Amino acid sequence: MFITFEGGEGSGKTTAIKAITKLLQKDGYKVILTREPGGPRISEDIRNVILDKKNTMMDKRTEALLYAASRRQHLIETVWPNLKKGNIVICDRYLDSSLAYQGGARKIGIDNVLNMNMFATEGTFPDLTFLFDIEPKLGLKRISKNKGREVNRLDLERISFHNEVRKNFLLLAKRYPKRIVKIDASKTPEEIVKEVYRAIKKRLKK
Ligand code: TYD
Repeated sequence: MFITFEGGEGSGKTTAIKAITKLLQKDGYKVILTREPGGPRISEDIRNVILDKKNTMMDKRTEALLYAASRRQHLIETVWPNLKKGNIVICDRYLDSSLAYQGGARKIGIDNVLNMNMFATEGTFPDLTFLFDIEPKLGLKRISKNKGREVNRLDLERISFHNEVRKNFLLLAKRYPKRIVKIDASKTPEEIVKEVYRAIKKRLKK
């Protein structure tokens, strides 16, 4: 099973993912936790280029292509081999981030970005996706409190950009209702972990 987590900045998804991975591992599942953009060295190198605060000149299609290139290498080195072994792969961000950020907020168009990603992923969609939905104002406030976390180029976008990202994630949830489960990320971390864990266990039993 390939599970992805999506959402805006400061939605708390990264913290929740770690807790959920531990719970599943305790149950005896072999779970691989990974993230995008990143994972293998080549993908991490691409990540650094994308998120570098110096790269203010980066064109939006260049950005979309780099995310897709990083994604493909991550599929080849991490996701596909683990799925083949029967492991659960949990990924912090994947395709839907490109659709919402580059397709929607950067206005390249969801379908344009999807087509480009079909080439990169050869049609690998997650089995299950959790969308951590949060009001951007609240999410960004959480980030500014979290001093350990580095501020990247995309965090520096205006609030209107983050509102667009959210709107597009919600559109995607409507487009893929079977795959995408919306989570109210303003709930407590305990509640969220419980909700996600239950949903995964239900799918695993199917
Ligand atoms: P990261 O530090 O991983 O942020 P977060 O902790 O919020 O996941 O930075 C990833 C950034 O890249 C984040 O702002 C979302 C963005 N992104 C895209 O724009 N498109 C994509 O396809 C992916 C995977 C991420």
